[in-house]
Amino acid sequence: MFNNQLPKDFLWGGAVAAHQIEGAWQSDGKGLSIADVLTAGSNKKPRRITDGVLENEYYPNHEAIDFYNRYPEDIALLKELGLKAFRTSIAWSRIFPNGDEKEPNEAGLAYYDQLFDCLIKNNIEPIITLSHFEMPYHLAKEYGGFRDKRVIDFFVNYAEVVIKRYQHKVKYWMTFNEINNQADGTHELHAWTNSGILVQPDENPEEVIYQAGLNELIASAKAIIKAREINPDLKMGCMMAYVPVYPGSSEPNDQMAALKVMERRFFYSDIHVRGEIPSYAIKKWHKKGYKIDYSQAELEALKEGTVDYIGFSYYMSNAVTTVDDRSNRLDGYSVNDYPNAKIVNNPYLKSNDWGWQIDSIGLRYILNVVYQRYNKPLFIVENGFGAYDQVEADGSIQDDYRVSYLQAHIEQMQLAILEDGVEVLGYTPWGVIDIVSFGSGEMEKRYGFIHVDKDNQGNGTLRRSKKSSFSWYQQIIKQNGVEA
Ligand code: BG6
Repeated sequence: MFNNQLPKDFLWGGAVAAHQIEGAWQSDGKGLSIADVLTAGSNKKPRRITDGVLENEYYPNHEAIDFYNRYPEDIALLKELGLKAFRTSIAWSRIFPNGDEKEPNEAGLAYYDQLFDCLIKNNIEPIITLSHFEMPYHLAKEYGGFRDKRVIDFFVNYAEVVIKRYQHKVKYWMTFNEINNQADGTHELHAWTNSGILVQPDENPEEVIYQAGLNELIASAKAIIKAREINPDLKMGCMMAYVPVYPGSSEPNDQMAALKVMERRFFYSDIHVRGEIPSYAIKKWHKKGYKIDYSQAELEALKEGTVDYIGFSYYMSNAVTTVDDRSNRLDGYSVNDYPNAKIVNNPYLKSNDWGWQIDSIGLRYILNVVYQRYNKPLFIVENGFGAYDQVEADGSIQDDYRVSYLQAHIEQMQLAILEDGVEVLGYTPWGVIDIVSFGSGEMEKRYGFIHVDKDNQGNGTLRRSKKSSFSWYQQIIKQNGVEA
């Protein structure tokens, strides 16, 4: 074996989320979730959030890839791939269909027992996210999502039920997926999927999202406190979207702008890890006259319920500039983190078809930055290359572009671990089997090593087949890394 320096128990895996894979949106007592009212979009057209489920609309998550019914067959393939870990989420609305019930739905609990047992039987460790964009719709509709403090208790109750139930099957947990997606408050889909919130015209989106985000951080801390009471051996993590934002030039204002843009995203992990509201946020709230509600008891919960590790996704980097150089880079969009700051394209990087800039060194960079900031174990729980794959006449799929992307990122991860000394628990690339895209709702934005025969309109046999990347990843896992 060429590389015996990565830890032997390094968790090579794959990741998905319940709403993007399971389908079976009404089976066994499941309630409607906020993902069930998202229409399909594309790389040019945003998904819409409908008022309940409407006739004559197509909702790609309703069937997804029918993993709910086909999981034994899919897990057999994942075993063949060699996965040591499989990250998925529990669909909250299978356990509490409306979210505010006192008693859980036993059929939903039984389903995850079977799923986790099947994974464990195949020597695949389940890694579980408690809330991955799938809160019960009722909590969004009737309570306004996480703007309402009562939703904190509903989440903590749900977390307690599932952690108690699965404590001997699941060791690694994460509370809220990509909790910082919503950070600027202006993106409708993110406010909805992170917090179950539709910002109203008379509201200040930034203030609403700071309140909801803080409520989620409190909910996360309280769930972690409960988890430690239930079983102190569990590892409780957060889940962040880390998109490093570089200064667009060496003009000092660009450096400050990059720092401030990142600070807004770090707000979430700063609280998850350090257990207190950072002074930069308090100053901002004061200056802007925001009334963010929190009690002394909640501050104490934040302090006590800090995370054991930081799970995060990494797909791309961005750049920010304040320099009006009239070059073609100023086609970006303004951000209010720093005067005259605009997010712009980085001319040194290429993009995928959705405009995501490909930057493998950015992974090593962010691993270093985050480890230096917090000194906590990190877990790369999402990374991958979304692409339109071509099925050849003989049925094969040659996805070399995916292999190049992943190979380059794994190389940089290894440098971070082996040369920079960053502690990384594992690597679970996103969409290990093709699933519905979260951002666009497309089925044809594919990440998988396993192809699923289904198109953007929902046509197809759902048949699974291996892409050429399948044997490549199988080999990487076998040899415990890439040959640098
Ligand atoms: C992350 C999410 O945003 O990135 C996933 O945690 C999502 O749910 C993934 O699917 C990739 O994004 P997309 O839009 O390509 O599916």
